[in-house]
Amino acid sequence: MRSYAEKLIRSGTMEGPDGAVIPINSQISLSEGIFLEKIIRDIRPGVSVEVGVAFGVSSLFICGALKETGGTRHIAIDLGPIRKKENNELDRFGLGIHNLERCGYGSLLEVWESPSELALPDLLRRGQRVQFAFIDGWHSFDHTLVDFFYVNKMLDVGGVVAFHDAVHPNVRKVIRHVMTYPSYRLYGASEVEKPVFGTARKGLEKAVAYLLFVIRRLQPRRPNCVALMKIGEDERPWQWFADF
Ligand SMILES: C[S@@+](CC[C@H](N)C(=O)[O-])C[C@H]1O[C@@H](n2cnc3c(N)ncnc32)[C@H](O)[C@@H]1O
Repeated sequence: MRSYAEKLIRSGTMEGPDGAVIPINSQISLSEGIFLEKIIRDIRPGVSVEVGVAFGVSSLFICGALKETGGTRHIAIDLGPIRKKENNELDRFGLGIHNLERCGYGSLLEVWESPSELALPDLLRRGQRVQFAFIDGWHSFDHTLVDFFYVNKMLDVGGVVAFHDAVHPNVRKVIRHVMTYPSYRLYGASEVEKPVFGTARKGLEKAVAYLLFVIRRLQPRRPNCVALMKIGEDERPWQWFADF
């Protein structure tokens, strides 16, 4: 439900199960959500997998488009916890699932409260195939590559994998590495977000903020969500290497 996801992004808050207003964080932007929807409308995946669900904002865009295009399942992986140990209240991932359920996506969901480095091999072992993957979990180079390693083994030809936080050098390196595989090509990228100058600060602080804003505007800007399409089986020989 785009309107609900948009409301979460614009307000930076969500409504908990008891009606309390809860601040949210770490979510994708609206233009990135629209980009994810577009991919799904284009390729019409049956099954998608997502690493890093948090408050469920990206999952809302994915599930909305999946439902619209006849997809059957969204595998949602996050470290969790779903509930806080101390009082059994919903924690971040649990609130994400709550958001997805309240928008009517509960029947699409397969929830894995587990590190992705353990969940993805289990999914592979059971023979899982996916046609869309969104990687937005732990952003170190090694973790992102491990996530991609398993996604690649489950992704059908014609499927798409999207990486969030592509402006981070570690994620960017993984994308550059994957771009050297003969079986992948760039599919697309989200809109480059313009820095916004909005501050209630006054005097010197405002001048400094404005200066930083101008510097940021002058720097080359890159898209933060990058998607690659699998265009063939991964048939690289065992000693294959291409510098990146
Ligand atoms: C940037 S947030 C995800 C935001 C979400 N995609 C959205 O747009 O609303 C990153 C999430 O990854 C999860 N995470 C971190 N390391 C992980 C791992 N090894 N396996 C699975 N999830 C992980 C965190 O718990 C956190 O909720």
